[in-house]
Amino acid sequence: MTDPAHARVLVTRPLPEPGAGPLVTAGLEVEQQPVDAPLAAADLAALVAGQDALLCMLSDRIDGALLDAAGPSLRIVANFAVGFDNIDVPAATARGVLVTNTPDVLTDATADVAWTLLMAAARRVIEGDTLVRQGRWVGWTPTQLLGAPVAGRTLGIFGMGKIGRAVARRASGFGMPVRYHNRSRDEQAEQELGATYVPLDELLATSDFLSLHAPLNEGSRHVIDAAALAAMKSTAIIVNTARGPLIDEAALVDALRTGTIAAAGLDVFEAEPALAPGLAELDNVVLLPHLGSATTDARAAMAQLCCDNILAALAGDRPKTLLNPEVLDR
Ligand code: GLV
Ligand code: GLV
Repeated sequence: MTDPAHARVLVTRPLPEPGAGPLVTAGLEVEQQPVDAPLAAADLAALVAGQDALLCMLSDRIDGALLDAAGPSLRIVANFAVGFDNIDVPAATARGVLVTNTPDVLTDATADVAWTLLMAAARRVIEGDTLVRQGRWVGWTPTQLLGAPVAGRTLGIFGMGKIGRAVARRASGFGMPVRYHNRSRDEQAEQELGATYVPLDELLATSDFLSLHAPLNEGSRHVIDAAALAAMKSTAIIVNTARGPLIDEAALVDALRTGTIAAAGLDVFEAEPALAPGLAELDNVVLLPHLGSATTDARAAMAQLCCDNILAALAGDRPKTLLNPEVLDR
């Protein structure tokens, strides 16, 4: 086992406080990238060689080739995100490398952004703000920027994990019935939130608001495609704070343009930061730059959790939010 006091850690971006501070305090040799932009794959591969730990971002692709570039010293990949579709976990497991993510600490922050998008899309907040700012507002009128009612309408949740449940919990204040679809039924959520499990086609057909909270994998990629959009109400509003590729973004542009659905609120994109052609020209979509976990508290807790996981792994202990326990258990 590595002596934690001499271990080397690569941190691929500047981080908010406490940043890598807990690692420095523990005496680790921390190599932190100073530039707040994604590393090119070749640069990441060169920098990771010989490191004992890697603290990486959702924008870093961690595959078998990158793990091989790191070499046999690498003990842990600590992802600064709850989603870990950027990491080939089986490839890490095969090489005996622990992988961790940052669940729980960003649940409320992300659920709040889902509601921000839902409300902003329903009540046309960006169009209203733009009208006022551009000096085009001539005063209150009975017909201006009429939006969609929220209270009492049906909220559909695709993916009833921690964030999905937090979004559903907030719906009780709006008196909204909650329906959900998930790989498996969640009886605890049904009891706690009064949520009803429905098949996906029924979720699509009956939701006034559909909020996506599933992880990205081959089973969820493009789950919202042209056919799914066509199955939704023409008054429906879709919200995505999970991962962009859950939605076929070109099909969404078509659906928003032709009125197949009413509006959308997006925090994530298929090829972010690029947008599908035509998306940014539409008035009936609210666009955020992947801000789900972007509160000072959540980001500080994510940094602390990544550091705790790295220190645990290097000390031979089990990291708190370990994704591949079979590395330790076999
Ligand atoms: C952000 O998208 C995350 O997965 O934490
Ligand atoms: C609108 O401002 C109203 O008072 O109805």
